[in-house]
Parts: sequence; structure tokens; C-alpha cells
Amino acid sequence: MTAGRHFLQIPGPSNVPDRILRAMDYPTMDHRGPAFADVGRRALEGMKSIFKTESRVVIYPSSGTGAWEAALVNTLSPGDTVLMYETGHFATLWKSLAQKLDLNPVFIESDWRAGADPAAIEERLRADKGHEIKAVCVVHNETSTGSVTPVADVRRAMDAAGHPALLMADTISSLASIDFKHDDWGVDVTVSGSQKGLMLPPGLSFNAISDKAMKASETAGLKRAYWSWADMAGPNDTGYFPYTPATNLLYGLNEAIDMLHEEGLENVFARHQRHAAATRAAVKAWGLEVLCQVPEHRSPVLTAVMVPEGHSADNFRAVTLRNYDMSLGNGLSKVADRVFRIGHLGDFNDLMLCGTLSGVEMGLRDAGIPYRAGGVQAALEVLGQKFDGARAAA
Ligand SMILES: Cc1ncc(COP(=O)(O)O)c(C=O)c1O
Repeated sequence: MTAGRHFLQIPGPSNVPDRILRAMDYPTMDHRGPAFADVGRRALEGMKSIFKTESRVVIYPSSGTGAWEAALVNTLSPGDTVLMYETGHFATLWKSLAQKLDLNPVFIESDWRAGADPAAIEERLRADKGHEIKAVCVVHNETSTGSVTPVADVRRAMDAAGHPALLMADTISSLASIDFKHDDWGVDVTVSGSQKGLMLPPGLSFNAISDKAMKASETAGLKRAYWSWADMAGPNDTGYFPYTPATNLLYGLNEAIDMLHEEGLENVFARHQRHAAATRAAVKAWGLEVLCQVPEHRSPVLTAVMVPEGHSADNFRAVTLRNYDMSLGNGLSKVADRVFRIGHLGDFNDLMLCGTLSGVEMGLRDAGIPYRAGGVQAALEVLGQKFDGARAAA
């Protein structure tokens, strides 16, 4: 047994605040009874304010992967070409899912060290004179690398190319942590999940759906049953679901939405940027390298740190877990054992960050990773300054 609280500093699932745990700690109610409509309506309406949309939002009892599938099967037909961008492990998984659904993903390859490049997307779209590409799919915050794709710029690139494809964005690890504007940015399907910025346990996923995407779903040829937007729409209009919803997670979701608005979404985003800036200052002082090479793409949600050649990130994480009871994110597929990921998202404050960075610094020492002391001190200095969002991006 280890005394004190475990530090869960992976980039999601994130820590669930006590207030949300308490909100879920109620008897499960009749999901077809009169009292449920209020729970359902609050959740469905409330999520619109988080996605910054006036359009329909659907909520699935599933992990984020389900919402990825839902976005594709509701809007596309077998054989359709989709343009996807290899920002990292999760973009690659979404591409594999598209392949399994008999779609034809065209993958823009990259070295996993930046978000998607809108200019590269524009070039592909301009070359697609016959409009074979039916959707452009990007991951807003690539959780495997800590890189953010400028989704508004992707929309501008699509408009500049005069291309009619649908725009789909995965915000599973960005929603309610990094600003995202479904309507203003002209996103057609936004995919998300409960277990990161929304501070809930895993188990809920979301699609926010533009009118254009809803229209596309009327003629799309891929088969769908569980994920059908049309089947959701009728019951959702009165606060109900076509099948058993994850009732207690919805209690928690309504609490999370209240908490986010009490703090103010813009303050939540600034808090994440500030913690990321302090973390990057620590990494720099340690003499280590951040995986994302494009300063303005560096994630407010997590920081992926490269370990020097010849050293094992997984051994470092194992030592840190054993000695300090702290879980850090591992390197996935291409960067396995090369990076560790520090999650600084969700229900998180200055002292939690200080504890996290102290644990990393002590873990580096214990695991014999070459580093310079003083990372925590460098982070404290950032936390002590008046926060300047523009400068923090660097
Ligand atoms: C950006 C991103 N997309 C998709 C997924 C897959 O979601 P899930 O594991 O909830 O199915 C994750 C999970 O971490 C993610 O971070």
C-alpha cells in the first residue's frame, strides 16, 4: 500500500473531481420515466454550449472510438475517399477504422512532430478536381504526441480550395481544455469523449453534427444501427434515448457542464495554457526535448517529452510509478519507449502541477536519465509570472 493519493497524470482518463463523483453517486433512475427527460435534455443542450454549436449533439454510451465510427458511418458510403492526416497514433487508428469500414482513406504522412499542415490539405484538395474526397478528418489534439492542429485554418484551406468535402474533427482530448468552435469554424462532425477535459470517467462519447452532415446522413450508404443519428434524433428531442443511456454518467456530465461554466470556458482554456507553459519551462530546464517541434502547435493538454538516445522512457515511467505512485503516459507505437507524456488537463491546479513535475524530476534522477536539476524551479517561475497567453505559446 502506498500512502497518499495516486497521481494520475496520463493525458486522460483524467482525474475526476469529487463534485462529479458525488453527482454520480445517486440511484440509477428509470430512463423512460418522467424525471429522466430533464437529465437528458440538460445534457444534450448543455453539450451544445461546450461544442459552441447551435446544431444537434448526440451522446453515446461508448468510448471515443464509437464516436469516430459514428461520424463515418452516418455520413459516408462504401468506397468513399476520405483525406486524413498522420499527426500520430490516434490519427492512424482513425484511418485504420475507416479502412475496416470499406472507406478509402488517403493519408498525408508526417513525422509526428507537429499538428496537421493546412497548406498540405489545401494542396490535396485543389488536386482533387473531381471532388472524390468526401471528408477531411483531423485530430484536434493528437494525444500521442502533444500536437494541436489548427482546425479553423483547415476550414480556411478547404474554403480556399473551393472543396465541398465534410470537415470532421476529433476533439476527444481537447474539448473543454482547448478552445474549439464547432459552428464558427465550420466543422461538420465533431467527435469527442468524456474522459479528458470533461473530467468524467470513460464511457460517454459525442458527435456534434452540422446541418450539412445531417443532410449527408440521409443519403449515405454505409450501414449503421447502434450509431444511427436518425434513430437518436426522435427520442433526443424530448430528452430520451433509443436505448439505455449511461444514466449515472449523464448525472456526472451535467455537473461537469455546470463546473466548466462556473469557472468560465475561457478561464479553463487559459489555465491549461499556463500549466503547459510551466511544464515546457521545466522540460527545457531539464535539458530534454519536447516532441512537438512547432511552438504554436504545442498542446495545452499534455507534453510529450523525448528521453535521450540509449535510455528507456518506459523504464523511467516504471521507476516513477514504483517510487512516487504517479502514472505518466507511455509512448505509443512509433514513439514507444522514446517518449513519456505528462498530462496537465482537466481538474488540475498549480500545486498538482508542482507535485507532478517534482515526481518527474525525482523519477529522472532515480532512473538514471541524464538531466539538469532545476526544472521544477523553472516551472515555479512561470507560475509566479503574470500569464501572457501569446508568449506562453513559444
Ligand atoms: C485523440 C484521441 N482520439 C481517439 C481516442 C480513442 O478514444 P477511446 O480510447 O475512448 O476509444 C483517444 C483516446 O485516448 C484520443 O486521445
